[in-house]
Amino acid sequence: MKSNLVIKSLDLAGLQDIAARLVRCLPRRLTLGLVGTLGAGKTAFVQAISRAIGVDAADVTSPTFTLLQSHRSGDQILHHLDAYRVMDEDEFLELGVEELFDDEQAWTLIEWADRVEGVMPRETLWLEIRIEEQPDLRTVEFRTSDSGLARVVETALREMMPSG
Ligand SMILES: Nc1ncnc2c1ncn2[C@@H]1O[C@H](COP(=O)(O)OP(=O)(O)OP(=O)(O)O)[C@@H](O)[C@H]1O
Ligand SMILES: [Mg+2]
Repeated sequence: MKSNLVIKSLDLAGLQDIAARLVRCLPRRLTLGLVGTLGAGKTAFVQAISRAIGVDAADVTSPTFTLLQSHRSGDQILHHLDAYRVMDEDEFLELGVEELFDDEQAWTLIEWADRVEGVMPRETLWLEIRIEEQPDLRTVEFRTSDSGLARVVETALREMMPSG
């Protein structure tokens, strides 16, 4: 991504739209690093992805105390992690995350991934969610150092981006 991709004024339906577009355009193997303050909407975004792949969003809760929850629907797999309470990168690795990152079939979404940035894969799609002045709206910023992935994401979200 030459510059980060920013989409503003998203309500929950807008977040769902982004999730649906990503699921349509991306291979199943995707690692998403979710960044944002308490209540920004990281879990809400995991729920949006889960809906888009057919996993019951009601099953997707904050994994703060279990650190990892895995969900399956048909051949779709979603791993949901939360690094908020992880002490350091070593503790995060001890959860077996490298195996999850290598999983060819799974969506792996990590809340508070910036806390363990040093051990996140290079091909992570980073997604920062910011609360706007209007409390039900969010600004979402995407970045990745994987240029192939960046192109796919740009194509997937082109219609939602401000022109120019
Ligand atoms: N446009 C929006 N996008 C995302 N969430 C929204 C939006 N509008 C309202 N919300 C609400 O904001 C809350 C976001 O909470 P959520 O648990 O997803 O945050 P979080 O980033 O996971 O927080 P935590 O750091 O505690 O895990 C939800 O109650 C959601 O319904
Ligand atoms: Mg959360």
